[in-house]
Amino acid sequence: MNIRLLHLATATVSILSLTMVTNAQETQQASATGAPSLQPPPSQSKKLPPAPDSPLEKQMKILARGTKQLSQQLSNSSKQQENIALLETLKKAASDAKELNPRKATQIPQSDLEKFLADYRAQIDKLSDAFNQIEEAVKAGNYDRAVTLMSTVGPLKKEGHKNFKAD
Ligand code: HEM
Repeated sequence: MNIRLLHLATATVSILSLTMVTNAQETQQASATGAPSLQPPPSQSKKLPPAPDSPLEKQMKILARGTKQLSQQLSNSSKQQENIALLETLKKAASDAKELNPRKATQIPQSDLEKFLADYRAQIDKLSDAFNQIEEAVKAGNYDRAVTLMSTVGPLKKEGHKNFKAD
């Protein structure tokens, strides 16, 4: 009985060793022949996460969400208070954006940087002025004027992006 057990153990050890040798040989052959390995290298196994938003991009996203909603309900008198609150949010985002520098600033030669940043902040001021005037119109219940003023925001954004957004 013990001898049979001994044989069984010896056979198991032999099979295990053979399997390990064969696996090692296959791995060596795969890398030697250039055959694709079954496991992707760690660098390709996961997609890189998207770069986090810059502080200015965060403010721009607040502007984007807020102006979209405002445009949809600007002349709705039942949303007057909500629209005033939205305009306060937009004014805060513009004011916070003014304190930040666009990424493109890092590509501007030192000699032009002061003007670039002054022009950027002046463009943001125009946006804030527009929000202030729209808010006055909404508070006065002058929704036609509010809508007309709102149509100036798109061109201000377009001009701002053309001059101050990195490619
Ligand atoms: C209501 C008007 C505006 C809206 C809705 C708006 C929206 C946006 C959006 C959605 C982005 C991309 C954010 C991202 O990729 O995550 C962006 C980026 C940017 N916007 Fe605006 N924008 C507006 C006005 C302006 C104005 C007036 C200026 C300049 C004075 C400006 C300057 C920039 C810059 C420089 C970037 C790139 C961000 C960076 O450099 O870090 N935007 N904007």
